[in-house]
Amino acid sequence: SKIALDAAKKLAARAAVDQWVTEETKVVGIGSGSTIVFVVDRIAERVWKEGALSDMICVPSSYQARKLILDHNLTLGDLDRNCRIDVYIDGADEVDSGMVLIKGGGGCLMQEKIVASCAKSVIIIADYTKKSLRLGEQWCKGIPIEVAPMAYVPIKHKIEELFGGEAQLRIALKKAGPIVTDNGNFLLDWRFVAKREYNWYEVNLAISMIPGVLETGLFVDMATKCYFGMADGTVKVQS
Ligand code: A5P
Repeated sequence: SKIALDAAKKLAARAAVDQWVTEETKVVGIGSGSTIVFVVDRIAERVWKEGALSDMICVPSSYQARKLILDHNLTLGDLDRNCRIDVYIDGADEVDSGMVLIKGGGGCLMQEKIVASCAKSVIIIADYTKKSLRLGEQWCKGIPIEVAPMAYVPIKHKIEELFGGEAQLRIALKKAGPIVTDNGNFLLDWRFVAKREYNWYEVNLAISMIPGVLETGLFVDMATKCYFGMADGTVKVQS
């Protein structure tokens, strides 16, 4: 029988924190989403119950991460003061066999990529549903792209012309209108053609070059290791 998704997330989170957050870790980057909650829980447990990790600074990747850090009474940092991050830990929406990630389901891809880019190691934690051989293998959730609001229509058309599929403006559920990111921008979710063979490095480069695109949710060559909480209760590490 399969273990619950939350149990899988928690297993992966604990394994990653215990492996990567040590007394030598001075600055840790905190990702966003539902899985990272278990990471911050574990860090707080180490600090407040086990008396470990004194002086460690946490740099957030979103409003949510900032609040998690503050709620757990951990030391809040920022890139102005702490731009050398030892380890960045975050979830992902999908991870392929070459460690290309799709991120941004929670809409924080731009800050996440910036903070991750400042880290020596980038550790991804996820449950078993996020593990794919190729992106879009199970169902195509789409690749989130953060865009300047005035440019979302031309960007949508350019992406569809270049690479096919459909790029949709992300609409808020409980608001009449689009989702606005922490940075005041819009999001396109690009549902690519799942059966097509894409070179994600080139796709990421080409989309990033379109005027008005601020960041893509494609993380290529960024992840150091990925910890998956598996359905059988084990943790699988991919690198
Ligand atoms: C947030 O913008 C995303 O990149 C998240 O890191 C990603 O969606 C993982 O979220 P969950 O842990 O909720 O699956």
